[in-house]
Formats: sequence, C-alpha cells, structure tokens
Amino acid sequence: MAEEHVGPSEKQIAVHWREEEYYQPSPGFVAQANVNDPAVFERFSLENFPECFREYAELLTWDKPWEQTLDASNPPFWRWFTGGRLNASYNCLDRHLKSSRNKVAYYFIPEKEDDPPVAVTYQELFVRVNEFAALLADFGGLKQGDRVTIHMPMVVDLPVAMLACARLGIIHSVVFGGFSGKACADRIVDSASHILITTDGYYRNGQWLNHKEKADVAVEEAAKAGQTVEKVLIFDRHAGRYQSETPLVAGRDYRITELLASYRGARVEPVSMLAEDPLFLMYTSGSTGKPKGVQHGTGGYLSYATATSKYILDIKPDDVYWCMADIGWITGHSYIVYGPLALGVSSILYEGVPTYPDAGRPWRIAQRFGVDIFHTSPTAIRSLRMLGPDEPGRYDYHFRLMVTVGEPIEPDVWRWYYNVVGKREAVIVDTWWQTENGGFLCSTVPALAAMKPGSAGPGIPGIHPVIFDDAGQEVPAGSGRGGNICIRNPWPGIMQTIWNDPDRFVRTYYAKYNTDPNSKDWRDWPYLAGDGAMLADDGYFRILGRIDDVINVAGHRLGTKELESAVLKIGDVAEAAVVAAVDTIKGTSPEVYVSLTPGITPSEELKRRIIDTITQEIGPIAKPRMVWMVPDLPKTRSGKIMRRILSAISNNAEDIGDVTTLSNPEVVAGIQQIVKQRSEG
Ligand code: WT7
Repeated sequence: MAEEHVGPSEKQIAVHWREEEYYQPSPGFVAQANVNDPAVFERFSLENFPECFREYAELLTWDKPWEQTLDASNPPFWRWFTGGRLNASYNCLDRHLKSSRNKVAYYFIPEKEDDPPVAVTYQELFVRVNEFAALLADFGGLKQGDRVTIHMPMVVDLPVAMLACARLGIIHSVVFGGFSGKACADRIVDSASHILITTDGYYRNGQWLNHKEKADVAVEEAAKAGQTVEKVLIFDRHAGRYQSETPLVAGRDYRITELLASYRGARVEPVSMLAEDPLFLMYTSGSTGKPKGVQHGTGGYLSYATATSKYILDIKPDDVYWCMADIGWITGHSYIVYGPLALGVSSILYEGVPTYPDAGRPWRIAQRFGVDIFHTSPTAIRSLRMLGPDEPGRYDYHFRLMVTVGEPIEPDVWRWYYNVVGKREAVIVDTWWQTENGGFLCSTVPALAAMKPGSAGPGIPGIHPVIFDDAGQEVPAGSGRGGNICIRNPWPGIMQTIWNDPDRFVRTYYAKYNTDPNSKDWRDWPYLAGDGAMLADDGYFRILGRIDDVINVAGHRLGTKELESAVLKIGDVAEAAVVAAVDTIKGTSPEVYVSLTPGITPSEELKRRIIDTITQEIGPIAKPRMVWMVPDLPKTRSGKIMRRILSAISNNAEDIGDVTTLSNPEVVAGIQQIVKQRSEG
C-alpha cells in the first residue's frame, strides 16, 4: 500500500509537530454548556451500545416510534431506528412554527457588502419549501424515492430545494456549485436524475459568475452517457430577473419564479418516511476515477446531525451560529442545514469568499449579527491570518465556541485562531469526520476536556476509535507509531451504502479488517476511515491525512485518479500522475507530472491546456499548482507509477525513499533537476 500513499509522509508531517500544551475551557463556558457532566461517556460506553443512541433520536419528532434501535443483522448494512417514521423537513420547519415561527432561520448575506442582508424566518422558509415542494410534485412529476440533482451556490434557495425534496421523500444529490458542468453530469448519470435544479448565476470574489452555462454542459454530457434530463429548473439570483447570458432552452429550461406563480400559498403534507429511507446522496472522491454516491438515511442521519450540533457545537436556542462551509459539501448539509434547523437556531448563510472584499469581512459580519458560534476550516483560517493578522481585534464580536474542520490544523495556526480570532474567550473544537460519517467522530466535548492544538481529540460519546496497523494489530496509545484509524462500532450517522454499488461499499470501508465476511456480529466489522492517525497517551487522536489516493485541497476532497483521467484525455499526454504538495494556505495542493507522447515537446501552451482541461472536467478547485513535463515517470517493474517518489520530490523531501525497486531509477535525477528549477527560478 505504501506505493499508493500520495500525501506528505508521516515523517514529513512529524517534523512540524510535537506534543502541545493543553488549553482549558473557561469555568463560564463549562457552567453553561449543553453537556458538562462526564457521566455522558459512561452512558455512551460500548456496554450501553446501541441503546445509548436512543437519546439522539429523542431529539427529533417522530410520526411513529421506532421498534428497534439498531438492526445489525446484515453487516455492514446497519439499519437505525427501524420501524420508526418521520420527515426531515417537518423536523426542520413545521415543528418550530408554534413557538418560534418569527425567529430567523437564516440571515442571508450577499457577497457584495453594499447589498442588504435578508432575514428569512422559519415561517417564511416553511412557506417557500411548501410552494417549491408543490412545484416539484406537480410540475416536476416527482415522487418519493426519485433522485434530483441540485447544482447551486450559497443562497437560501439551496436549503429550500433540499427541504422541499425531503418533504416529498425525494432523494437530493447536491453538487458543489464550484464543480464543472461535466462533474455535475457524472453525478446526474450515476443517480439517474431527470431533473436538475440550478440558478442563473452568483457572486464570487467580486465577480458575477454565469452558472446556467454549466447546466447546458451537464445536460449534454449526461445525454451522451444515456441519461436524459427532462427539465432544468432555474432559480434567479436576483428575484424576478434572469441574468445569465446563456439563453433558456425551450421545453427544457424553466424559471422557477414564473412557475411558482401557480403554487402561491400551496401546502404539502410531509411524507412520513421510514427511518431507513434514504434522505440524500453526496458524491465524494475515492481511490478510483469514479466518485461514489454516499447514501445517507433519514432517521439515523438526522438524529446524529442534530445531537452532535447540540452536544459538540453547544448550540442553544438564542445563538447566532455561522458555519462558513459550503452547503455543497457534507459539512454544510449536516451543520448549516439539517442539524441547526432541527434545533431551530438562527444561522448566517454567507454567499461569498471569506476574504472579500478584505480579510475583515467575517469579523464585520460577526459583529453586526452577534455571531457567537463560528465554524470554519484551517484553509480559511490560514488565509484570513495571512491577509489580516490583526483584523479580528478591530471588531467588537465575541465567540463562545469555534470549530475547525476538514484538514489537520497546524498548532501555530490553531494558536492564532484561539488568541486572535477567539480573543482567548472561545473554546475550540477540532472535529474530525468525513462525508461518509454524517457527523463528527473525534473531537473534544467542549466543556469536558482540554483542547490540544493540532489534535482532534478522543472519539465523541458513542464513538470508539482504534488504530490498526496493516496487519490488523492494534497500535497502542502513546506508541508514537501511526496507523489506520477505524471505528469499532456502528453509529446512527454512518452512510447506508454507496448508491448502486454495495460491493464497493463493503470493499472500501470494511473488507480490510473484517476477518469473517459471514459474521453477523458488528464487532467483526470495524469501519476503515482511510486516514492515517496517531494516538497519544492521553487518548487524543492526531489525524495525519489520507492513506489512499485521495488528496485534501483546502478541505476539499479530490481523487488523484479523477485528475489523472482528466489529463489523459489530452492526446499529447502519455502518462500522468498527481501528487499532493504541502501548501502554506491550502494545506496541500495538487501537482501534476506528465510524460508526453513520442514526438511532442513540452510547451507553455500544452501546460495551459492541461490546466484548462482539469478545470473543465472537475472545476477550479482541482487546478494544479504545478505541471511538470518530464521525460518518463518512475515505475515499478510491474509498471506501476511510483507516486511516493514524485510526492517526495514535490515536497522537497531530503530523502526521497527507496528507488531500488524501480524499473527505471535513472529518471529520478532528471525529474529532480526539472523540479529544482522552481526554487531557483
Ligand atoms: C477527510 C474527509 C467532514 C468534513 C469535511 C471534509 C480530512 C476532516 C479533519 C480534521 C484532520 C480532517 C480527513 C478526512 N479531515 N476533518 N479535523 N483534522 N483532517 O469531508 O470531504 O469527506 O473529507 O478530511 O482526511 O478523511 P470529506
């Protein structure tokens, strides 16, 4: 497996890390926290598994109580709260109307700072969700179990569309707005969606982006793969005005503003779903070029997102909560939409980039709205720090709790977050989890444990992580050795399966450490997360990064194979390999190595074509930092490209590792020479 490790090596990371001192939550924080009794760990011990999770489900309103907390009879296809019935949109909207319909659900903040913020109450969100659900059912002809692809930026219409689907039992598949039309097409095809929901355009970094043109590409590309999109439903970024330069296609494209006229005041009964009915798909990258459709269920997922929002984010009814992630990723699904709305809190929904028009923007928003819980990624923290190291001190806001998620955070960056952004008043939770998990896995419970910069912390209540070595032996705490982090037990937020590919689900997450595929005992099915990690004496996990062909760029997950297959579409490229290089802002950034077909010489023009192709096939987030055109790629005798060596070169490692198993060790020096010119030139 070592050959396939493309991220920075454990050794490289270790250079920058040492044991860190603890930071204690303040007595004031502890006194008010939703969870401040250490007995929670006893309640959620393995002896009390799985019944401990009833307490999570009890945070929701059920149409019909569940019969069994966990049906584990068909591992690893866990079924939570079986027999129970509920509706996710009911839990996020209807149930709040009686006591707090006039409470703000979202403060929408346009990227343009002069444009006024828009407050959307729970009542208003309820009305919009109902009207849009009526449109989907009637005009869209959609019904329970159908899939719909939603390709949208950060606007309130996105949660409206998601909740309208949830209301009808339609499975939504939200594609991150920054993904290309082609990437959207792949997801339309895999989920067999007949309807695409999109928008005319949006603002990003001060620019108006034409988004509708991506819908045209998506529909065309999906058609080539045999999937017909019958209708494209288009929201307007500016109510009542269609502002894309891309024309509407008659009989296929419809403006939602116009259609809604027929559904004013419509109310749609929420469909009572079984707990185990799927709620949504979220495509994420894996080891192959094909993204996997991670399928989340209704009852288990919603219980988990809601409970972790309450216990780890410490959300209370009067908070103003702001998660800066994009709803197009799992963080946004669980911690902008489902968890916070189920708890009935007021959230900020910000359209744009954190540093627009300057690095003071987030702090102005925090000051203006009285944000007291703030949730973001190390990449955002790094760039805010670089562009405005003293900005937070200029604004009068006070956070009680702050979150970091998505990548390992360097202790130095953590300390700036704590001292400067949090003004030493806020506790920090470093939450480790994945698209597949539905919600947090490792984090300190904020009132119950000290913070340690750079370490996520122990498993949260009910989560029992363990590190195994490649041979399946447990790596003990404090050994100083890394290994593969796994979770011993199922939990309600775990994905149900990979859409259309249950075998891949079992293979990817369970096959490695399952010794008996026929075992019906959940203890024989540890979940393999795909991250390397170390466990310190104190029980805190430090996440080292992916162990597979996945790279993490600014907290976005990309498959190296996806980038490579994009590059290989160019005829002039013979072979391609993508590695992750350490980047001061993005954590890591992709670098592409290519060898060219005979007769083709390296040129700036070809380099540009490679970059453009990646942007078209995947999106700007996958844009490589460097493209290296080299005579040949290092290969094993069996012809496998040794990405480990390229990664070492890109990361300026002193020791590039063993090259004796290469069939062509002589190419290494030449590649090093080419890459060295970067630092010299
Ligand atoms: C991968 C999952 C789930 C939130 C967004 C990312 C990395 C996530 C942390 C953290 C170190 C982290 C892991 C994981 N990751 N959180 N707190 N510390 N690494 O979701 O796109 O599914 O990516 O992000 O490598 O496997 P995702």
